[in-house]
Amino acid sequence: MKKPAMPPPNFPEHSANNPYHKTAQYYERKLNLPVIRSIRRGESASIYRCFEEILRPTDTVLEIGCGTGYYTRDLVNRASHVIALDDSESMLNIIRNRLTAEEVSRMQFVRSEATQFTPTEAVDVVVHIGVLDYVPDWKAFLAHSLFNARRAVIFTCPTDGLCGHMFHLLSKWEGVNIQRYARRQLEDFLHESYPEWRCEIRRAGINGGWSGGSTWVCTLQLR
Ligand SMILES: C[S@@+](CC[C@H](N)C(=O)[O-])C[C@H]1O[C@@H](n2cnc3c(N)ncnc32)[C@H](O)[C@@H]1O
Repeated sequence: MKKPAMPPPNFPEHSANNPYHKTAQYYERKLNLPVIRSIRRGESASIYRCFEEILRPTDTVLEIGCGTGYYTRDLVNRASHVIALDDSESMLNIIRNRLTAEEVSRMQFVRSEATQFTPTEAVDVVVHIGVLDYVPDWKAFLAHSLFNARRAVIFTCPTDGLCGHMFHLLSKWEGVNIQRYARRQLEDFLHESYPEWRCEIRRAGINGGWSGGSTWVCTLQLR
């Protein structure tokens, strides 16, 4: 059955709370900081496990907020086609020059605020890693992802534990408002509004009990 049309998005053409319009060239340096590397190691182990469980070689994947391509190559190698979308042209310029011609031949690059984009082909899985951090209207953003996914959505977001709060405070220096999420808040919204999607949420990143973890790694799969 055809899904009813999404209501028009209430987002501006460019996301105002996105630091990467101006700071794309510093992103890789930030990823190389020892503390970020160690958080990323924990996160990516959990994210790759989700890719392994969910992605199929025939899939078309929409990767929202592809950034400089930290996860994109892995997605291209697991799926048949990847639409790599980012709101920042500078990020897209970096990723375009990073992938091989063969990889790029199975990809499409899109410069757009995520919710302003309507894919012209069917998308099996929507992925957004490290993007909900910057999204004020997270419910509308997730609704858009779920509307466009035929089978699954894989995403991450900061926890509301100690690390999430530190991340939030540090980002204020960049003039950015990082959102933090309680597990309950995500589960309640998803169970109430999308009961047909099975939701699994795992804690990742800095994973000590005292820290509350740094990141939720979430999967939504159509039952
Ligand atoms: C923290 S980076 C993550 C990049 C990559 N996914 C990774 O894990 O390394 C967040 C990315 O999301 C993009 N972004 C943020 N808000 C967005 C929005 N509303 N629509 C599209 N892209 C967005 C930013 O430009 C940036 O490239």
